[in-house]
Amino acid sequence: MLPRPQTKIFLDSANPQDTKVVLDLLGFLDGQTTNPSLIVKVLGENVKVSESEMLEFYKTNVQKIANLIPQGSVSIEVYADDTTSPEDIYHQATTLSQWIPNAHIKFPTIPNALLAAEKFLADGGRANFTLVFTQAQALAIHLLATSCGVNKGQVFVSPFVGRLDDIGQNGVDLLQNIQRMYQELNSPVEILGASIRNLNHLQYCLDINLDIVTLPLTVIQQWIDQPSISYVPQPLTPIPYENLDYSVSWQDVNIDHPLTTKGLLKFAADWKSCLN
Ligand code: E4P
Repeated sequence: MLPRPQTKIFLDSANPQDTKVVLDLLGFLDGQTTNPSLIVKVLGENVKVSESEMLEFYKTNVQKIANLIPQGSVSIEVYADDTTSPEDIYHQATTLSQWIPNAHIKFPTIPNALLAAEKFLADGGRANFTLVFTQAQALAIHLLATSCGVNKGQVFVSPFVGRLDDIGQNGVDLLQNIQRMYQELNSPVEILGASIRNLNHLQYCLDINLDIVTLPLTVIQQWIDQPSISYVPQPLTPIPYENLDYSVSWQDVNIDHPLTTKGLLKFAADWKSCLN
């Protein structure tokens, strides 16, 4: 068994079978993250169901996961596309959060979802803001969370490392930039490294004592074989630290990013792909 790191380890999968495998491999698991693409993968290729059957399938799998890690956090993502209203997203969040006691509801980092999350957090809900690609988006989430008076552990921010690497930017830089900004702000928001593709990404997260990292099963299996590697800097374009204005309200921060839009539409398309 590996020594348990300071960084909390989550599994990036909607499959409870994977949860069991990881519990056997690691002997612990601090949480699990799911998303529409991941639950569609569990359903299987070419299977068509109604929307209510799909939601029931998602709920059943999330409940199995939650039973396996009752002390851990399980992230469940709302459905949203570019037309989904804040009211719809809020309604989904309250429904999904009743599935299990240990849910964090995943909100895409878009204006309508942040409006929904503002009400949800004020009610005491727990949230994981996903599809984060900029320091400005992380600032908006911090400002929103603190305006709702959240506690530590109530809110996660999920920067997507691998998808930034995919466009030639050094995704891990964003983790360090958000960590530095949150330290300056003494933020209650925890940073969850997402879109982790390899051991080098993982080692970086462990080296900077990131709060949380979510790992696909394949990376956990590689980690068992190579428990400690040295982080190797990659030939990617650095993402510089930005000195942002902290005195504004979250609505004044520009949270646009093309990868957020692209990711949102891909999650929506994957979800719809299995509906009849
Ligand atoms: C987890 O919260 C994210 O949805 C996931 O890590 C995305 O990973 P990907 O970029 O490999 O799809």
